[in-house]
Amino acid sequence: MQYTEGIRDFAERHAIALSVAFVAGAGLLAVRRWMAGGVCRSKARLDGKTVLITGANTGIGKETALDMAQRGARVILACRDMTRARIAADEIRQKSGNGNVLVKKLDLASLQSVRDLAKDVQENETRLDILINNAGIMMCPKWKTEDGFEMQFGVNHLGHFLLTNSLLDLLKKSAPSRVVIVSSLAHEKGHIHFDDINLDKSYKREQSYRQSKLANVLFGRELAARLQGTDVTVYSLHPGVIRTELGRHLLPTLPLWKKIILKPFIMLIKSPWEGAQTTIYCAVDESLANVSGLYYSDCAPKTPAPQALNDATAKKLWDLSASMVGLA
Ligand SMILES: NC(=O)c1ccc[n+]([C@@H]2O[C@H](COP(=O)([O-])OP(=O)(O)OC[C@H]3O[C@@H](n4cnc5c(N)ncnc54)[C@H](OP(=O)(O)O)[C@@H]3O)[C@@H](O)[C@H]2O)c1
Ligand SMILES: *[C@@H]1O[C@H](CO)[C@@H](O)[C@H](O)[C@H]1NC(C)=O
Ligand SMILES: *[C@@H]1O[C@H](CO)[C@@H](O)[C@H](O)[C@H]1NC(C)=O
Repeated sequence: MQYTEGIRDFAERHAIALSVAFVAGAGLLAVRRWMAGGVCRSKARLDGKTVLITGANTGIGKETALDMAQRGARVILACRDMTRARIAADEIRQKSGNGNVLVKKLDLASLQSVRDLAKDVQENETRLDILINNAGIMMCPKWKTEDGFEMQFGVNHLGHFLLTNSLLDLLKKSAPSRVVIVSSLAHEKGHIHFDDINLDKSYKREQSYRQSKLANVLFGRELAARLQGTDVTVYSLHPGVIRTELGRHLLPTLPLWKKIILKPFIMLIKSPWEGAQTTIYCAVDESLANVSGLYYSDCAPKTPAPQALNDATAKKLWDLSASMVGLA
């Protein structure tokens, strides 16, 4: 009796403070829910199917690979660091109970490595049902790939461009099959610098990342157009803002005050599981079976920026990319 009275007394005296705390808490929860975004509800099974994911040793790639393994697929983790890849594969096998998870070496900053992986897959795999171009590097210093391309354009776009083209025959043979391209909201401020594609004249790390992510969306669009009638469908997407290692080149260079301001937002951004949902949706959702060439966010279609819808730019980028990787 006395105890409840005490609580009531406390509540009455602190009514305003308690209301404020309650509203703030509920508000924070609502913002957190909203930030978490869409969830892939498809229960589609992938038994007997093969999925290849680039950059699957960490971040959203690893979460996507785990989901594919849980659906029964044979999952190939294509990674540049074989030690990290084997640790991730062990974890995925153990969590999913699916032993059919293997690792293959792929360094997207080397065209030779891309060719070697493609040859390995063509010779050793009987089918490829889902190709997920997930690997990415963000806002690194002015680095070059083995072939002399600007690093972010080289890895995020050119490496995947060659990889996808090299695996097209196998994808067509396995149709209906899908190509999923992980882009970013960053494409919205992007521009393809056709006169200085490697940004040799003036390198800005943000500009370079945006260009590479715009290239991802344009590639998806042009690829879908070229694959019409083959039953190989193509999807590009923004996964959300997610707690991963993607900031590894950017964060150490930020001044302390920016790090302090950013800290509280960390709890609001997506977990890797939440961040993998749109990729998974594009890879398996039955409702997308006959749709191709569109861009997605939070497990729903979204209109990308106008420059990502320009067919002439998409075609020009395709021709330039083909000549850069030696496919022309
Ligand atoms: N996190 C976000 O907020 C966010 C937002 C929008 C878009 N995205 C996109 O989501 C994708 C996945 O990123 P994440 O957030 O999961 O980042 P992450 O944790 O840094 O994972 C990136 C993966 O890409 C791999 N990778 C980098 N360079 C490579 C290369 N040269 N060859 C082969 N693999 C390479 C990394 O391998 P190592 O571990 O060996 O370096 C790692 O497995 C990226 O395409 C990114 O642009 C992420
Ligand atoms: C096929 O797989 C085997 C066994 O892993 C490997 O030794 C061989 O090099 C692969 N083929 C190619 C072309 O990489
Ligand atoms: C896709 O097209 C095929 C063949 O026309 C049809 O059988 C199937 O129902 C369609 N699927 C969806 C989800 O629209």
